[in-house]
Amino acid sequence: MWDKVQETVKFLKQNEISNPEFGIVLGTGLGSLVDYIKIEKSIAYGEIPNFPVSTVAGHSGKLIYGLLGGKKVLAMQGRFHYYEGWTMQQATFAIRVMKFLGINNLIVSNASGGVNPNFSVGDVMLIKDHINLMPEHPLRGKNDERFGTRFVDMHEPYDLAFIAKFESIAKAKNSNIQKGVYLALQGPTFETPAEYKMVKILGADAVGMSTVPEVIVARHMKMKCLGISVITDLGIEGKPESVSHEEVQKAAKLAEKKISELVTAFISSF
Ligand code: HPA
Repeated sequence: MWDKVQETVKFLKQNEISNPEFGIVLGTGLGSLVDYIKIEKSIAYGEIPNFPVSTVAGHSGKLIYGLLGGKKVLAMQGRFHYYEGWTMQQATFAIRVMKFLGINNLIVSNASGGVNPNFSVGDVMLIKDHINLMPEHPLRGKNDERFGTRFVDMHEPYDLAFIAKFESIAKAKNSNIQKGVYLALQGPTFETPAEYKMVKILGADAVGMSTVPEVIVARHMKMKCLGISVITDLGIEGKPESVSHEEVQKAAKLAEKKISELVTAFISSF
């Protein structure tokens, strides 16, 4: 893993990707944040050594380097989900690469199903904490101390100062945002009514199929994380509703502009 990460970092540096400050993982339907990036370089995953190639519709698979809010950012347009069949190490490989390109701040976004009855479709939820119920763990196996310690502190998975800053930016823009706990399940099935109920009983506000492995790996390497989720459907007890990937993408679009503007303002505030 170490050698592969270094090889990929070397390739990207040779391709003029230098000193990005923020890493961004663009989740379902949020790909259009790239429209706000002054792109200097765009590299298809297929051209990057050791990068897996994403297969889900809506995840186009490019690494984008450029300026956002006046800062150098490296954005993943398309992420790697465990349910696609990647190992957890493959699914989180790009986060390791980001770290060794010098990135210490990670912004991750996703679409999720809301189980909090105060939520509506299209709401933007800052992730304040998560519950990891994925069936595999990205740090299982021999620990490489060059990345981080064996037992990783998770008392502040999502940086509290980032959350406070993002909230104050949203407030100044009169932009309503929610805050809550994100629970990660493997997918790719959406939840049954009983599973949504379980998610709520366990203390989460939203459920999805990504983000948590990336944040775990980022915390292993002491990167600061900001997590943003768009509520694209609701799993409210007694009101079972159908959901499809197309509907999730459509609902994520509703929040796209708002999130893009908030993230841009957030980054430019540093
Ligand atoms: N469950 C899991 N993943 C999701 C959902 C959901 O309801 N909505 C969007 N991604």
